[in-house]
Amino acid sequence: MNLLLIGPPGSGKGTQAKRLIAEKKFKHLSTGDIFRENLKKKTELGLKVQKYIDQGALVPDEITVKMVELALKEVSKETSVIFDGFPRNTSQGKALDKTLKERNQKLDLILYLEVADSEIIGRLSGRLWAPKSGCIYHIKTNPPKVAGRCDKTGESLVVRKDDKKEVISARLKVFWENTHPLLHYYEKQGNLNKIHGEKSPDEIFKTILSLLENSRNSQNL
Ligand code: AP5
Ligand code: MG
Repeated sequence: MNLLLIGPPGSGKGTQAKRLIAEKKFKHLSTGDIFRENLKKKTELGLKVQKYIDQGALVPDEITVKMVELALKEVSKETSVIFDGFPRNTSQGKALDKTLKERNQKLDLILYLEVADSEIIGRLSGRLWAPKSGCIYHIKTNPPKVAGRCDKTGESLVVRKDDKKEVISARLKVFWENTHPLLHYYEKQGNLNKIHGEKSPDEIFKTILSLLENSRNSQNL
């Protein structure tokens, strides 16, 4: 089962992916998380992609697609994967279709978390993130039990560098210009499920579980 979570920055892709991996056996493949890990470790890849991420621009396809292909090689064909933040434009979408085809696979469920730009700004300007555990918080709507500390690991929470107002605007622009057309690509394949992403995380998770169940039953997965 290959599941894709697609949506604007701050639409809740990471929040829902975390819940899915806690409840179901999924491998979480988030290109943003892989890039951030490389930035933290100052790897060659990290140094190469820093300027794009800091500006809220897309990392060039040749780097991102290759990175995902390598990551997928480490995943057995029996493992269910959640793609989060990849693909992000039509050319990445086609590249992923090709890579999955070579594994005799496809995207089984595509979920678009629809959230208005006005809501996104409030979400991202209050987001806190735990780099080790990957847990995601919001200063007002989902605060940690102890201020500034992760509930799971106790580590210090940080604000993502790309959650500055001007970078959020750049990321939203990239979403509408590059990622939104990818939705039409999936819509044409008759494969896109739209989810009202402004409901509560619990309600959204319930909807995702039910779509997952339907998809598994209809495909005998
Ligand atoms: P990436 O890390 O993928 O960032 P993004 O797509 O901008 O999305 P976010 O991680 O910011 O948001 P999210 O949807 O995960 O929301 P979250 O659950 O955290 O990419 C970062 C950068 O890497 C890109 O800008 C680009 O430079 C590069 N990159 C990555 N992939 C690439 C690719 N394929 N090609 C090229 N470049 C690439 O939630 C956000 C906040 O909202 C939290 O505070 C949370 O608590 C809150 N929240 C969540 N759900 C709800 C809800 N239902 N109601 C209220 N609040 C909620
Ligand atoms: Mg995320």
